[in-house]
Amino acid sequence: MKTTPYNRLTRLLRRIASRNKTTPTASKKKGKDRKEGKYRDIIAAEYLQKRAHLPDWHEETLILGHLISQLPNQLEVLDIPFGTGRFMPLYASKLFRVKGMDISSDMLEIAQAYNRPDIAKFQAITGDATDLPLADSSIDLVVSYRFLGYILTVERAKLAIRELVRITRSYVILQLQYLKDGEQTGQQDKLGDKLTWPEQEEFLKSLNLEIMERIDTFSKDQYQNTILLARKSPIN
Ligand SMILES: C[S@@+](CC[C@H](N)C(=O)[O-])C[C@H]1O[C@@H](n2cnc3c(N)ncnc32)[C@H](O)[C@@H]1O
Repeated sequence: MKTTPYNRLTRLLRRIASRNKTTPTASKKKGKDRKEGKYRDIIAAEYLQKRAHLPDWHEETLILGHLISQLPNQLEVLDIPFGTGRFMPLYASKLFRVKGMDISSDMLEIAQAYNRPDIAKFQAITGDATDLPLADSSIDLVVSYRFLGYILTVERAKLAIRELVRITRSYVILQLQYLKDGEQTGQQDKLGDKLTWPEQEEFLKSLNLEIMERIDTFSKDQYQNTILLARKSPIN
């Protein structure tokens, strides 16, 4: 049988789904939040199948395309967490040079099978967003979707945002969630349950970020999703 990108990906997903699930991940061993280490084995294998057809996924892609259309071509980009590398078609069209970092090697392996290497090249790096192995101001643009408000506790989200701002020299595109006006704080230790937009905006400003554009997307329960493009101002 001819090997197509589709059946190569399908075989890989089957293999990952059937792996032994008893070995704790590095992040679990270090005692981090359960959600950070969960994207492996069957959860990684089913990631695309469960999400890639949904309207919110499509809307997020559309918004990223709109935001990066305002930026120069050929930037060096860090997409973290890279997941399945879902934005490679957009990056390839801008001739971006891409580093894809994720704490899950399963997700990075899927990203490699999901994106044709002759058209969509990227450097895959296993790493933790709260402790980046990259120098200050060493990347033109950092992109972070479905992470800061979805996965991390408030304290670790702030830690990760500080790291992302430290390593960018120019731009960040962040998907965040904030507590809607007039809503009670929620039960979970997540940005969207705890912090309003003015509180998050003040935090971003304290890191010398100037917001160029912000677009609200879907909202759920007490929180609102938002995606922003910001520029890092030089420190006076
Ligand atoms: C919901 S997925 C989002 C992936 C991708 N950004 C997207 O929009 O589809 C969350 C990802 O965060 C990764 N992750 C969790 N904790 C992490 C950490 N501390 N540092 C880097 N990646 C992390 C997971 O492995 C998973 O791939």
